[in-house]
Amino acid sequence: MEVMIEKLDNLGRGITYINGKICFVENALPNEKVDIEIQKEKSKYYEARVIQIIEESPFRIEEECPYSSICGGCHLNHMCFNDENKFKTRKVKEIIKKYAEVSPDLVKNIVYNDRNYYRNKIVLHGYDQKLGLYKKETNEIIPIKECLIVNQKINEIIPILNKENKDIKEVIIKTSNDNSSIMIQIEGEVNSIEELKNITDVLIINGKLLTNDYKIKTTIGNKEYYQEMDSFFQINNTLTKELYNEIEMNLKDKNYNKVLDLYCGTGTIGIYIKHLVGEVIGIDNNSSSIKSAIVNKELNQLENIEFICDKVENRINQFQNIDLVIVDPPRAGLDLKTKEYLKKIAPKKIIYVSCDPITLARDIKDLKDIYNIEYIKPFNMFPRTYHCESIAILEKK
Ligand SMILES: C[S@@+](CC[C@H](N)C(=O)[O-])C[C@H]1O[C@@H](n2cnc3c(N)ncnc32)[C@H](O)[C@@H]1O
Repeated sequence: MEVMIEKLDNLGRGITYINGKICFVENALPNEKVDIEIQKEKSKYYEARVIQIIEESPFRIEEECPYSSICGGCHLNHMCFNDENKFKTRKVKEIIKKYAEVSPDLVKNIVYNDRNYYRNKIVLHGYDQKLGLYKKETNEIIPIKECLIVNQKINEIIPILNKENKDIKEVIIKTSNDNSSIMIQIEGEVNSIEELKNITDVLIINGKLLTNDYKIKTTIGNKEYYQEMDSFFQINNTLTKELYNEIEMNLKDKNYNKVLDLYCGTGTIGIYIKHLVGEVIGIDNNSSSIKSAIVNKELNQLENIEFICDKVENRINQFQNIDLVIVDPPRAGLDLKTKEYLKKIAPKKIIYVSCDPITLARDIKDLKDIYNIEYIKPFNMFPRTYHCESIAILEKK
Protein backbone atom coordinates (compact mmCIF):
# COMPACT_ATOMS: atom_id res chain seq x y z
CA MET A 1 0.00 0.00 0.00
CA GLU A 2 1.43 3.40 -0.98
CA VAL A 3 1.14 6.23 1.55
CA MET A 4 2.56 9.71 2.14
CA ILE A 5 4.18 10.35 5.52
CA GLU A 6 2.85 13.56 7.06
CA LYS A 7 4.92 14.04 10.21
CA LEU A 8 6.71 12.23 13.04
CA ASP A 9 5.29 10.96 16.32
CA ASN A 10 7.13 11.25 19.67
CA LEU A 11 8.94 7.98 19.03
CA GLY A 12 10.30 9.26 15.70
CA ARG A 13 7.93 7.08 13.63
CA GLY A 14 6.31 8.44 10.50
CA ILE A 15 2.59 9.21 10.71
CA THR A 16 0.12 8.60 7.91
CA TYR A 17 -3.66 8.02 7.87
CA ILE A 18 -5.49 5.06 6.34
CA ASN A 19 -9.20 5.72 5.93
CA GLY A 20 -8.94 8.30 8.71
CA LYS A 21 -7.18 5.96 11.16
CA ILE A 22 -3.67 6.87 12.30
CA CYS A 23 -0.86 4.61 11.15
CA PHE A 24 2.66 4.65 12.66
CA VAL A 25 5.41 3.72 10.22
CA GLU A 26 8.87 2.93 11.55
CA ASN A 27 11.87 4.26 9.62
CA ALA A 28 9.85 6.73 7.54
CA LEU A 29 10.37 10.50 7.29
CA PRO A 30 7.92 13.36 6.61
CA ASN A 31 7.08 13.90 2.92
CA GLU A 32 8.28 10.46 1.92
CA LYS A 33 6.08 8.32 -0.31
CA VAL A 34 6.47 4.75 0.93
CA ASP A 35 5.09 1.33 0.22
CA ILE A 36 4.08 -0.14 3.58
CA GLU A 37 2.94 -3.40 5.08
CA ILE A 38 0.54 -3.28 8.05
CA GLN A 39 1.99 -5.28 10.94
CA LYS A 40 -0.54 -4.57 13.67
CA GLU A 41 -4.14 -3.41 13.57
CA LYS A 42 -5.71 -2.03 16.75
CA SER A 43 -9.06 -0.29 17.21
CA LYS A 44 -7.46 3.17 17.22
CA TYR A 45 -4.29 2.77 15.14
CA TYR A 46 -2.18 0.71 12.75
CA GLU A 47 1.52 -0.07 12.94
CA ALA A 48 3.36 -0.65 9.69
CA ARG A 49 6.81 -1.20 8.23
CA VAL A 50 8.33 0.23 5.08
CA ILE A 51 8.72 -2.24 2.22
CA GLN A 52 10.07 0.30 -0.24
CA ILE A 53 10.75 4.01 -0.28
CA ILE A 54 9.17 5.40 -3.45
CA GLU A 55 9.99 9.08 -2.98
CA GLU A 56 12.83 9.66 -0.55
CA SER A 57 13.18 12.66 1.75
CA PRO A 58 16.27 14.80 1.00
CA PHE A 59 16.90 14.68 4.75
CA ARG A 60 17.27 10.88 4.87
CA ILE A 61 20.84 9.72 5.45
CA GLU A 62 22.52 6.42 4.81
CA GLU A 63 22.51 4.28 7.93
CA GLU A 64 26.06 3.77 9.20
CA CYS A 65 25.24 1.01 11.67
CA PRO A 66 25.12 -2.51 10.18
CA TYR A 67 22.70 -3.65 12.91
CA SER A 68 20.38 -0.69 12.44
CA SER A 69 17.34 -2.47 11.08
CA ILE A 70 17.71 -5.46 13.42
CA CYS A 71 18.62 -4.04 16.83
CA GLY A 72 15.95 -1.93 18.51
CA GLY A 73 18.42 0.31 20.37
CA CYS A 74 18.57 3.30 18.00
CA HIS A 75 15.42 4.63 16.38
CA LEU A 76 16.73 7.60 14.40
CA ASN A 77 19.70 6.23 12.43
CA HIS A 78 18.13 7.36 9.15
CA MET A 79 17.76 10.98 10.29
CA CYS A 80 20.62 13.47 10.06
CA PHE A 81 21.81 14.84 13.40
CA ASN A 82 20.60 18.34 12.70
CA ASP A 83 17.09 17.02 12.04
CA GLU A 84 17.26 14.76 15.08
CA ASN A 85 18.02 17.78 17.27
CA LYS A 86 15.20 19.78 15.65
CA PHE A 87 12.85 16.80 16.10
CA LYS A 88 13.67 16.53 19.80
CA THR A 89 13.25 20.27 20.46
CA ARG A 90 9.89 20.19 18.62
CA LYS A 91 8.83 17.06 20.47
CA VAL A 92 9.54 18.62 23.89
CA LYS A 93 7.68 21.79 22.83
CA GLU A 94 4.62 19.81 21.67
CA ILE A 95 4.54 17.65 24.79
CA ILE A 96 4.92 20.64 27.11
CA LYS A 97 2.10 22.47 25.33
CA LYS A 98 -0.21 19.45 25.29
CA TYR A 99 0.37 17.93 28.74
CA ALA A 100 1.64 20.83 30.90
CA GLU A 101 -0.60 23.37 29.17
CA VAL A 102 2.12 26.01 29.22
CA SER A 103 3.62 27.96 26.34
CA PRO A 104 6.03 25.98 24.11
CA ASP A 105 8.04 29.22 23.89
CA LEU A 106 9.39 28.30 27.33
CA VAL A 107 11.35 25.48 25.69
CA LYS A 108 14.85 26.58 24.62
CA ASN A 109 16.93 25.04 21.87
CA ILE A 110 18.43 21.65 22.54
CA VAL A 111 21.98 21.23 23.82
CA TYR A 112 23.91 18.53 21.98
CA ASN A 113 27.36 17.13 21.46
CA ASP A 114 28.63 14.04 19.60
CA ARG A 115 26.22 11.75 17.79
CA ASN A 116 28.51 8.69 18.07
CA TYR A 117 30.54 6.90 20.73
CA TYR A 118 28.95 8.78 23.63
CA ARG A 119 27.80 5.97 25.95
CA ASN A 120 30.00 4.89 28.85
CA LYS A 121 28.03 1.68 29.42
CA ILE A 122 26.80 -1.34 27.46
CA VAL A 123 24.88 -4.48 28.40
CA LEU A 124 25.54 -7.47 26.12
CA HIS A 125 23.53 -10.68 26.17
CA GLY A 126 24.81 -14.15 25.42
CA TYR A 127 23.43 -17.48 24.37
CA ASP A 128 24.94 -20.48 22.62
CA GLN A 129 28.40 -18.82 22.31
CA LYS A 130 26.88 -15.74 20.71
CA LEU A 131 27.39 -12.40 22.43
CA GLY A 132 25.59 -9.26 21.36
CA LEU A 133 22.41 -7.21 21.52
CA TYR A 134 18.83 -8.40 21.46
CA LYS A 135 17.05 -8.34 18.13
CA LYS A 136 14.20 -5.81 18.29
CA GLU A 137 11.35 -7.00 20.54
CA THR A 138 12.82 -10.53 20.89
CA ASN A 139 15.30 -12.45 23.03
CA GLU A 140 17.23 -13.47 19.91
CA ILE A 141 20.87 -12.38 20.04
CA ILE A 142 22.58 -10.44 17.25
CA PRO A 143 26.34 -10.81 17.63
CA ILE A 144 28.03 -7.41 17.23
CA LYS A 145 31.58 -6.35 16.40
CA GLU A 146 31.04 -2.81 17.66
CA CYS A 147 28.26 -0.43 18.64
CA LEU A 148 28.23 3.10 17.21
CA ILE A 149 26.90 4.73 20.36
CA VAL A 150 29.26 3.26 22.96
CA ASN A 151 32.73 4.68 23.45
CA GLN A 152 35.72 3.22 21.61
CA LYS A 153 37.20 1.71 24.78
CA ILE A 154 34.11 -0.46 25.17
CA ASN A 155 34.31 -1.34 21.46
CA GLU A 156 37.90 -2.51 21.99
CA ILE A 157 36.75 -4.83 24.77
CA ILE A 158 33.96 -6.53 22.77
CA PRO A 159 36.34 -8.71 20.62
CA ILE A 160 38.28 -9.73 23.74
CA LEU A 161 35.03 -10.86 25.37
CA ASN A 162 34.11 -12.74 22.19
CA LYS A 163 37.49 -14.52 22.34
CA GLU A 164 37.04 -15.44 25.99
CA ASN A 165 33.38 -16.38 25.66
CA LYS A 166 32.81 -19.95 26.84
CA ASP A 167 29.22 -19.54 27.87
CA ILE A 168 28.54 -15.90 28.73
CA LYS A 169 24.92 -15.06 29.54
CA GLU A 170 25.32 -11.35 30.21
CA VAL A 171 28.09 -8.75 30.37
CA ILE A 172 27.96 -5.18 31.65
CA ILE A 173 30.86 -2.89 30.75
CA LYS A 174 31.23 0.58 32.25
CA THR A 175 34.04 3.09 31.74
CA SER A 176 35.18 6.32 33.38
CA ASN A 177 34.89 9.61 31.49
CA ASP A 178 38.46 9.46 30.10
CA ASN A 179 38.22 5.68 29.51
CA SER A 180 41.17 5.12 31.83
CA SER A 181 39.13 2.95 34.21
CA ILE A 182 36.98 -0.02 33.22
CA MET A 183 34.52 -2.18 35.06
CA ILE A 184 33.25 -5.53 33.72
CA GLN A 185 30.60 -7.76 35.23
CA ILE A 186 29.99 -11.17 33.68
CA GLU A 187 27.34 -13.79 34.31
CA GLY A 188 28.32 -17.16 32.83
CA GLU A 189 31.58 -18.85 31.90
CA VAL A 190 34.77 -17.51 30.31
CA ASN A 191 37.77 -19.41 28.88
CA SER A 192 40.35 -17.57 30.95
CA ILE A 193 40.16 -14.66 33.33
CA GLU A 194 43.80 -13.58 32.91
CA GLU A 195 43.43 -11.30 29.88
CA LEU A 196 40.19 -9.89 31.24
CA LYS A 197 41.93 -9.10 34.52
CA ASN A 198 44.69 -7.31 32.60
CA ILE A 199 42.32 -4.99 30.74
CA THR A 200 39.99 -4.01 33.55
CA ASP A 201 40.12 -2.34 36.94
CA VAL A 202 37.05 -4.11 38.30
CA LEU A 203 36.14 -7.63 37.23
CA ILE A 204 33.14 -9.41 38.69
CA ILE A 205 32.22 -12.89 37.46
CA ASN A 206 29.09 -14.59 38.75
CA GLY A 207 28.92 -12.18 41.67
CA LYS A 208 32.55 -12.75 42.72
CA LEU A 209 34.95 -9.79 42.74
CA LEU A 210 38.24 -10.90 41.11
CA THR A 211 40.15 -7.61 41.34
CA ASN A 212 41.32 -5.56 44.31
CA ASP A 213 39.18 -2.63 43.30
CA TYR A 214 35.38 -2.62 43.23
CA LYS A 215 34.86 0.95 42.01
CA ILE A 216 36.02 3.30 39.24
CA LYS A 217 36.51 7.06 39.28
CA THR A 218 35.05 9.60 36.86
CA THR A 219 35.57 13.35 36.70
CA ILE A 220 32.77 15.78 35.94
CA GLY A 221 34.05 19.38 35.82
CA ASN A 222 36.36 19.74 38.81
CA LYS A 223 34.58 17.09 40.90
CA GLU A 224 35.48 13.42 41.17
CA TYR A 225 33.06 10.57 41.63
CA TYR A 226 33.37 6.89 42.39
CA GLN A 227 30.76 4.45 41.15
CA GLU A 228 30.29 0.74 41.79
CA MET A 229 28.84 -1.74 39.34
CA ASP A 230 25.33 -1.43 40.76
CA SER A 231 25.29 2.30 41.34
CA PHE A 232 23.58 4.68 38.93
CA PHE A 233 25.73 6.86 36.71
CA GLN A 234 24.70 9.10 33.80
CA ILE A 235 25.76 7.46 30.53
CA ASN A 236 26.82 10.55 28.52
CA ASN A 237 29.72 12.23 30.33
CA THR A 238 30.03 15.31 28.13
CA LEU A 239 26.38 16.29 28.26
CA THR A 240 26.12 15.43 31.96
CA LYS A 241 28.70 18.16 32.56
CA GLU A 242 26.65 20.59 30.43
CA LEU A 243 23.50 19.65 32.35
CA TYR A 244 25.16 20.11 35.74
CA ASN A 245 26.61 23.46 34.56
CA GLU A 246 23.06 24.54 33.72
CA ILE A 247 21.98 23.68 37.27
CA GLU A 248 25.03 25.47 38.69
CA MET A 249 24.29 28.59 36.62
CA ASN A 250 20.83 28.78 38.17
CA LEU A 251 22.26 28.84 41.69
CA LYS A 252 24.91 31.53 41.31
CA ASP A 253 24.37 34.56 43.60
CA LYS A 254 21.19 33.05 45.06
CA ASN A 255 22.60 32.09 48.47
CA TYR A 256 20.30 29.12 48.86
CA ASN A 257 20.94 27.54 52.23
CA LYS A 258 19.18 24.20 52.56
CA VAL A 259 18.93 22.02 49.45
CA LEU A 260 17.31 18.64 48.78
CA ASP A 261 18.88 16.53 46.01
CA LEU A 262 16.14 13.96 45.40
CA TYR A 263 16.85 10.78 43.42
CA CYS A 264 20.52 11.71 43.95
CA GLY A 265 22.19 8.54 42.63
CA THR A 266 25.86 8.67 43.58
CA GLY A 267 25.41 12.22 44.89
CA THR A 268 26.74 13.80 41.71
CA ILE A 269 24.49 16.87 41.46
CA GLY A 270 24.56 17.79 45.16
CA ILE A 271 28.36 17.49 45.20
CA TYR A 272 28.67 19.51 41.96
CA ILE A 273 26.75 22.48 43.36
CA LYS A 274 27.74 22.25 47.04
CA HIS A 275 30.15 25.24 46.81
CA LEU A 276 27.17 27.49 46.04
CA VAL A 277 24.80 26.40 48.83
CA GLY A 278 24.81 25.88 52.59
CA GLU A 279 23.64 22.33 53.19
CA VAL A 280 22.66 19.42 50.92
CA ILE A 281 20.59 16.35 51.75
CA GLY A 282 20.54 13.68 49.05
CA ILE A 283 18.03 10.81 48.93
CA ASP A 284 18.08 7.70 46.75
CA ASN A 285 16.70 4.21 47.27
CA ASN A 286 19.66 2.38 45.69
CA SER A 287 22.06 1.29 48.45
CA SER A 288 25.10 0.95 46.12
CA SER A 289 24.53 4.49 44.84
CA ILE A 290 24.25 5.88 48.37
CA LYS A 291 27.37 3.97 49.42
CA SER A 292 29.21 5.62 46.49
CA ALA A 293 27.66 9.02 47.36
CA ILE A 294 29.07 8.83 50.90
CA VAL A 295 32.53 7.93 49.51
CA ASN A 296 32.18 10.80 46.99
CA LYS A 297 31.49 13.29 49.74
CA GLU A 298 34.85 12.33 51.33
CA LEU A 299 36.61 12.22 47.94
CA ASN A 300 35.62 15.85 47.30
CA GLN A 301 36.34 16.81 50.92
CA LEU A 302 32.88 18.23 51.55
CA GLU A 303 31.02 19.00 54.73
CA ASN A 304 27.34 19.72 55.35
CA ILE A 305 26.23 17.15 52.85
CA GLU A 306 24.33 14.08 53.92
CA PHE A 307 22.95 11.09 52.02
CA ILE A 308 19.94 8.98 52.95
CA CYS A 309 19.08 5.60 51.47
CA ASP A 310 15.29 5.42 51.23
CA LYS A 311 12.40 6.11 48.92
CA VAL A 312 11.90 9.83 48.38
CA GLU A 313 8.17 9.45 49.11
CA ASN A 314 8.98 8.00 52.57
CA ARG A 315 11.21 10.89 53.59
CA ILE A 316 10.16 14.07 51.86
CA ASN A 317 7.60 15.02 54.52
CA GLN A 318 10.25 15.38 57.24
CA PHE A 319 11.98 18.49 55.88
CA GLN A 320 11.36 22.17 56.56
CA ASN A 321 12.86 25.49 55.53
CA ILE A 322 14.14 24.13 52.25
CA ASP A 323 15.24 26.78 49.73
CA LEU A 324 15.83 24.58 46.72
CA VAL A 325 14.77 21.11 45.66
CA ILE A 326 16.50 19.34 42.77
CA VAL A 327 14.63 16.28 41.48
CA ASP A 328 15.96 13.78 38.94
CA PRO A 329 13.44 10.92 39.00
CA PRO A 330 13.35 7.85 36.74
CA ARG A 331 11.08 7.90 33.66
CA ALA A 332 7.94 7.44 35.76
CA GLY A 333 8.43 10.97 37.15
CA LEU A 334 7.23 12.15 40.57
CA ASP A 335 4.56 10.25 42.46
CA LEU A 336 1.50 12.00 43.86
CA LYS A 337 2.70 11.91 47.47
CA THR A 338 6.04 13.49 46.52
CA LYS A 339 4.28 16.29 44.61
CA GLU A 340 1.92 16.94 47.53
CA TYR A 341 4.83 17.27 49.95
CA LEU A 342 6.86 19.35 47.50
CA LYS A 343 3.98 21.83 47.47
CA LYS A 344 3.87 21.82 51.29
CA ILE A 345 7.62 22.36 51.63
CA ALA A 346 7.27 24.99 48.90
CA PRO A 347 10.95 25.70 48.18
CA LYS A 348 11.82 28.95 46.39
CA LYS A 349 13.02 26.98 43.41
CA ILE A 350 12.57 23.49 41.99
CA ILE A 351 15.05 22.24 39.41
CA TYR A 352 13.54 19.26 37.65
CA VAL A 353 15.88 17.01 35.63
CA SER A 354 13.88 14.58 33.52
CA CYS A 355 14.52 11.74 31.09
CA ASP A 356 10.90 11.64 29.93
CA PRO A 357 9.23 14.84 28.66
CA ILE A 358 5.73 13.39 29.10
CA THR A 359 6.04 12.76 32.85
CA LEU A 360 7.91 16.07 33.18
CA ALA A 361 4.97 17.86 31.53
CA ARG A 362 2.43 16.03 33.72
CA ASP A 363 4.37 16.99 36.87
CA ILE A 364 4.77 20.61 35.75
CA LYS A 365 1.01 20.78 35.28
CA ASP A 366 0.52 19.57 38.87
CA LEU A 367 3.01 22.10 40.26
CA LYS A 368 2.17 25.14 38.16
CA ASP A 369 -0.51 26.52 40.50
CA ILE A 370 2.25 27.59 42.87
CA TYR A 371 5.27 27.62 40.53
CA ASN A 372 6.12 29.71 37.47
CA ILE A 373 8.02 27.84 34.81
CA GLU A 374 11.07 29.93 33.97
CA TYR A 375 12.30 27.74 31.13
CA ILE A 376 12.78 24.19 29.94
CA LYS A 377 15.94 23.12 28.12
CA PRO A 378 16.29 19.79 26.29
CA PHE A 379 19.66 17.99 26.25
CA ASN A 380 20.36 15.39 23.57
CA MET A 381 21.95 12.92 25.99
CA PHE A 382 20.90 9.89 23.94
CA PRO A 383 21.60 10.60 20.24
CA ARG A 384 20.17 8.23 17.60
CA THR A 385 17.38 7.22 20.02
CA TYR A 386 14.07 9.03 20.53
CA HIS A 387 14.88 9.57 24.22
CA CYS A 388 15.47 13.11 25.42
CA GLU A 389 16.72 14.57 28.70
CA SER A 390 15.40 17.97 29.81
CA ILE A 391 15.80 20.40 32.65
CA ALA A 392 12.96 22.59 33.90
CA ILE A 393 13.45 25.58 36.18
CA LEU A 394 10.44 26.34 38.41
CA GLU A 395 10.31 29.45 40.58
CA LYS A 396 7.78 29.88 43.40
CA LYS A 397 5.10 32.46 42.56
C1 LIG B 1 17.82 9.38 36.70
S1 LIG B 1 18.62 8.69 38.10
C2 LIG B 1 19.28 10.16 38.80
C3 LIG B 1 20.64 10.07 39.40
C4 LIG B 1 21.41 11.31 39.70
N1 LIG B 1 20.62 12.47 39.99
C5 LIG B 1 22.46 11.61 38.65
O1 LIG B 1 22.42 12.68 38.01
O2 LIG B 1 23.36 10.77 38.45
C6 LIG B 1 17.24 8.28 39.08
C7 LIG B 1 17.60 7.74 40.44
O3 LIG B 1 16.38 7.57 41.17
C8 LIG B 1 16.52 6.48 42.07
N2 LIG B 1 15.15 6.13 42.47
C9 LIG B 1 14.18 5.54 41.73
N3 LIG B 1 13.01 5.50 42.41
C10 LIG B 1 13.25 6.09 43.62
C11 LIG B 1 12.45 6.39 44.77
N4 LIG B 1 11.16 6.07 44.80
N5 LIG B 1 13.04 7.01 45.81
C12 LIG B 1 14.35 7.33 45.78
N6 LIG B 1 15.15 7.09 44.73
C13 LIG B 1 14.61 6.48 43.65
C14 LIG B 1 17.33 5.47 41.28
O4 LIG B 1 18.03 4.62 42.16
C15 LIG B 1 18.28 6.39 40.48
O5 LIG B 1 19.51 6.54 41.13
